[in-house]
Amino acid sequence: MKDQYSLLAPWYSSLVKFIFGQKLKEAKLCFLDDAKSKRVLIIGGGDGLDYAEIEADISGEYWELSDSMLKKAKANLQFSQLDFRLGNFEAGKKSDEVWLHFVLDTLPDEAIESLLEEIKLALKAGGRIVFADFFRPKNYRQKFLNQVMITFFRLVAGHHRKDLPDYSGFFSKKGFSKTEEQRFMEGWVKAQVWRLK
Ligand SMILES: C[S@@+](CC[C@H](N)C(=O)[O-])C[C@H]1O[C@@H](n2cnc3c(N)ncnc32)[C@H](O)[C@@H]1O
Repeated sequence: MKDQYSLLAPWYSSLVKFIFGQKLKEAKLCFLDDAKSKRVLIIGGGDGLDYAEIEADISGEYWELSDSMLKKAKANLQFSQLDFRLGNFEAGKKSDEVWLHFVLDTLPDEAIESLLEEIKLALKAGGRIVFADFFRPKNYRQKFLNQVMITFFRLVAGHHRKDLPDYSGFFSKKGFSKTEEQRFMEGWVKAQVWRLK
């Protein structure tokens, strides 16, 4: 399988920090306060750098489609108790929660549906998805940046999407309901918690 992030992986986190500062990291970490007591599944975690400050508290599985991102994650999270897996996420052992950060906006609708189906198989009863992603931009600057990002990732990482997914529609269709939400950058980015109904 082609590593679509091989060009991006060496400077992905620096680029994100340059454009967004700490905002995306804050969105990822805002609902992860009691990670220590849980078995977690991190899907599409990229280089994992933003989880490094809590790595000692993380145990479970880390799934990445990109070998170059996964290698970086192994180094950045070497003191975690994560089992690192290369490939398209497949449900195995049940977990308490899934961390899904800035992944769904890269996937076509059909891939989102099948990923959520697979996640349902992997969640324990009462389990939750801790989600963060880009939503509709709120001003001209955000609209411009959003379009630049979509075009950039289509060219450099081979993403197929030309728009943002209807996240709520997909989660609701698969039987999840939203229990918590925090907004960043006027709501362009949101962190949410979704639980199985
Ligand atoms: C835009 S990057 C975001 C990385 C990281 N979550 C972050 O916020 O910096 C999306 C990542 O998801 C990975 N990915 C996409 N679909 C996946 C899947 N089905 N299973 C595992 N990884 C996946 C890609 O390889 C890529 O590294």
